[in-house]
Amino acid sequence: MPSQIKQSFDISQSKANPIQDMFNAVAPRYDFLNGLLSAGIDKYWRKIAVNELEPLSKGVFLDVATGTADIALEISSRAPSPARIVGVDFSTTMLELGKDKVKAKNKQAEIQLFPGAAEHLPLKDDSFDGAISAFGARNFANLNQGISEIHRVLKPGGKIVILDFSFPQNGFLQWLYRLYFGNILPIMGRWISGHKNAYSYLPDSVEGFPKGEDFTSILIENGFESTSFRMLTFGITSVYVGLKHA
Ligand SMILES: C[S@@+](CC[C@H](N)C(=O)[O-])C[C@H]1O[C@@H](n2cnc3c(N)ncnc32)[C@H](O)[C@@H]1O
Repeated sequence: MPSQIKQSFDISQSKANPIQDMFNAVAPRYDFLNGLLSAGIDKYWRKIAVNELEPLSKGVFLDVATGTADIALEISSRAPSPARIVGVDFSTTMLELGKDKVKAKNKQAEIQLFPGAAEHLPLKDDSFDGAISAFGARNFANLNQGISEIHRVLKPGGKIVILDFSFPQNGFLQWLYRLYFGNILPIMGRWISGHKNAYSYLPDSVEGFPKGEDFTSILIENGFESTSFRMLTFGITSVYVGLKHA
């Protein structure tokens, strides 16, 4: 077990919540639906987010709400020397699929995946050089607590990177976005995943999630400095960054 892990966390003992149940249910179709519903652009968004963690040559990185480990695998694919990456997620089904992908790429020595909730990371203080969460923060039951936990486990000077959906700026694109997110995506998502609500939950969760400066304010409230954000693909997603005081 890597030295960053504070305790073994038995997810089965934590109180199940509907978001956790939902991700467990959609897990087998999650990667397929990601690629289909985003027309493959999700891979590009993750790459841009991981760029923000550079340099990756040394150090230890945390992927919060790692899901099926795409971000963790992206980090390890670019680090010239074996990187050390810890992924945490509260969906054991997502994690099992992530572990299969890690094994298939023979990256078990670099990437270790653990069950855990973002709001109570089973990790030691001041342990990571960088921490990232892609499409995870929007789902946290308590966003402030999740961000504050990431702050706690970062080393002084460590960087947080958050990638999540935001909202296009252009009026026509907003209309198109609402049409797609509100109507087409939930139907396709329900049909392919077999889950009644998962893909209607997606647009609802995006609507309620802080964007732009509202999000960087949350980073600042939780101790981060030098915060900034950039919008990707006309603002459909945004990448937020901040530093823990050195
Ligand atoms: C949309 S998926 C994103 C997965 C992955 N990061 C990616 O880029 O594809 C959201 C993930 O967040 C996890 N998650 C949601 N809320 C969480 C929380 N509070 N603590 C830990 N994991 C959480 C879910 O189980 C799910 O695997």
